[in-house]
Amino acid sequence: MESLVDGYLRHIMDNVRDDLSGHVADYIPELAVVDPEGYGLSMCVHDGFTYSHGDSTTTFTIQSVSKPLTYAMALRKHGVAAVDAKIGVEPSGEAFNEISVDDRRRPKNPMINAGAIFAASMLLPATRDVTAADIESAFAEILDFYSGCAGRRLSMDEEVYASESATGSRNRAIAYMLDSFGALDTDPDAAIDLYYRQCSIRVTTDDLAGIGATIANGGLNPRTGRLVFTHEIAQRLLSVMTTCGMYDGAGDWVTSVGLPAKSGVGGGILAVLPGQLGIGVYSPRLDEHGNSVRGVETCQHLSKDLGLHMF
Ligand code: DON
Repeated sequence: MESLVDGYLRHIMDNVRDDLSGHVADYIPELAVVDPEGYGLSMCVHDGFTYSHGDSTTTFTIQSVSKPLTYAMALRKHGVAAVDAKIGVEPSGEAFNEISVDDRRRPKNPMINAGAIFAASMLLPATRDVTAADIESAFAEILDFYSGCAGRRLSMDEEVYASESATGSRNRAIAYMLDSFGALDTDPDAAIDLYYRQCSIRVTTDDLAGIGATIANGGLNPRTGRLVFTHEIAQRLLSVMTTCGMYDGAGDWVTSVGLPAKSGVGGGILAVLPGQLGIGVYSPRLDEHGNSVRGVETCQHLSKDLGLHMF
């Protein structure tokens, strides 16, 4: 017999499914070919048990949901003070791909492209002569870390990576702008390459829910029992996800849903109730901010009905 929680999650999806508004991202050509009808929902609770509904095993690219994870790796490698000297923590109030820097010429936060590209650059050797092997090795570390958070081995979508690399002038411009400030310790092209790779990692809503539950648990993955990062880092991720995770839609999100979260143009949203659970939603039609329309609506229902709003 279906459990009460499963029945409730199915009911929410039935209510939201008919909202066909928004558009699939097409500025990365390979993203435009996904099935716009895809819709999945997963919730991973504190002991690792995962409720999965709809297209919960469909893979999609993680895109910007990768940003908190690479930020966590930069924090782990360099420490909070060194990362804070390079990347701010203020909401930008601008689109995710704006060149938003503060008066110290730091990217305003790690959740927008400028900050995320900077965080990726911090995982590379501090030299202008970065080799292909250096990028491979930094990406292997990223895959290990993301897999540790998801609790299963993840892989990259080569087509999406090639597609974004071929069309990503805007991000290249951001990296070169940061480089012109003298801020990058490494080769800007290598930083961009690493960032495109991380964005092309394939995940499911089950994975996002597992990553969310790991952040909720202070860095301890409840599925594997492995400590992937420290409580201090988890607290930092939750803070920047709350203030900056949904870009210029962050204010609406925090008032209506009240959970730290991160969205991606692949259609995924990761939301976290600290100490309790992780939520993964997937639906590729996006609103004007680049957030999944049905994903946002699903989280609004969950928050209201289950009383998940933190404030
Ligand atoms: O940098 C980009 O444009 C993409 N790889 C990721 C952007 C993204 O997911 C923004 N999120 N809503």
